Amino acid sequence: MEYFLYEKKTEIIFQNDFRIVFPKEIKKVFLIDKKVYQLFENKLGKIIDGASFFIAASEKNKSLTEVRKIYDFFKKHNVNRSTVIIGIGGGITTDITAFAASTYMRGCRLVLIPTTFLAMVDAAIGGKTAINYNGIKNNIGSFYPAGKVIIVPEFLKTLPEEEMKNGWAECIKIALIKRSPLFDMLKSKINIKNIIEKAIELKLEICEKDLEDRGERRLLNLGHTFAHILESVSKYEISHGTAVSVGIRAAAKLSLKLGLINVDINEKINNILNLYNLAGYEDAKYLDALINKGEFILNQDKKAGLKLNIVLFKGFQEVFLKEIDDSKEVLKTLEDFFE
Ligand SMILES: NC(=O)c1ccc[n+]([C@@H]2O[C@H](COP(=O)([O-])OP(=O)(O)OC[C@H]3O[C@@H](n4cnc5c(N)ncnc54)[C@H](O)[C@@H]3O)[C@@H](O)[C@H]2O)c1
Repeated sequence: MEYFLYEKKTEIIFQNDFRIVFPKEIKKVFLIDKKVYQLFENKLGKIIDGASFFIAASEKNKSLTEVRKIYDFFKKHNVNRSTVIIGIGGGITTDITAFAASTYMRGCRLVLIPTTFLAMVDAAIGGKTAINYNGIKNNIGSFYPAGKVIIVPEFLKTLPEEEMKNGWAECIKIALIKRSPLFDMLKSKINIKNIIEKAIELKLEICEKDLEDRGERRLLNLGHTFAHILESVSKYEISHGTAVSVGIRAAAKLSLKLGLINVDINEKINNILNLYNLAGYEDAKYLDALINKGEFILNQDKKAGLKLNIVLFKGFQEVFLKEIDDSKEVLKTLEDFFE
C-alpha cells in the first residue's frame, strides 16, 4: 500500500518474516523497545546491522529527557539526514522515535516497525509524533510520516490479551466512523492480517485528506473525549482499550438520547464491543473522582479558548463533530456506566 501524506510517500509493507528491506550499504540506527528485543532477540539479532538504542516503554520515558539521550546517541553514531532511523516497538517507541527523527537535523529518514496491535493500526500510522511534557500527554510533537511502515503480524504472538484489546478497540472505532467492510470483517472475526490492512487503509484515507487534524481527522477521536476523562480520573489505571470502549458506548448512548440514532444502531454498536470483550464499565472505584474532577478535565480545552467538541453518531458508520454547550450532560452519560 502506498499513501501520500504531505506529498511524502508512506509505504506500508506486510511481512511474514523478520527482514529489513534496506541494502546493507545504507547506514541505519535502531531504536528498540527493550522488552521486544528480549522477546525476539534471536530473530531481531540477525537483522540489526547498526547501532541500537533501547527504550523502556513507559509514558514517563516518552519525554524530553529520553529524547536528549537519543540525540546524544545519534551524535555519537554520526547520524545524518541520509541515515535511516528505524523504530521497533509499541506506540511509545514509535512516537518517540518519530519525534526524534523529525527534529534531528530538521528531519532524517524514518522507518517504523510497530510491534503492538495498537501501534500497527494506529500509532505508527498517519504521521503524528509525540512526547509528553509537564504532565500533559502528547503535548509536544510534529507531523512527520514515516517513509516505510513494516507490519510483521508475528510480533502479536507474544502480546498480552489486554494489549490486544487496545488494538481491537481502535479497529472497532475506525469501523464505526465510515462506511466500509471493516465492520463485517470484525463481526465474522476473519484473519487478523486482513483486519489490520483494512483498518490502516481507512485511517490513511482520512489522514490523507486532513494530515494536520483540522477537519475530518478529528472524527478519529470517536470515544476519545470520554476515554480521556476516564484515563485521567483513574490515573491511567483504566486501560486505553477499556476507556475507548466505554467512550464509544457513551457516544452511542448520548446520540440515542439526542434522537440522532435509533435503538437498533445503539445495540449494533454495543454488540460489536461485547464480541471482543470490551467492557462496559461497572467498577465504582473511580466514580467520585469522575464527579469531582470530570468537569475540570472536560473544560480544559475550553479554557485554552477551544470549543468543546465531541464525536457523536448520526447513523450507522456515520459520525460528526458536535459542539457541546452543556458539559454536565456529557459527564452524566459517563457516570451512568458506573451504576
Ligand atoms: N502517534 C499517534 O497517532 C498515536 C496514536 C495512538 C496512540 N499513540 C500513543 O501510543 C502509545 C501507546 O502505544 P501501545 O499501546 O503500543 O503501548 P506501548 O508502546 O507502551 O506497548 C505496550 C506494552 O507492550 C510491550 N510490547 C510491545 N510489543 C510487544 C510484543 N510484540 N510482545 C509483547 N509485548 C510487547 C511494551 O514493552 C509495553 O510494555 C501512547 O503513548 C499513545 O499516546 C500514538
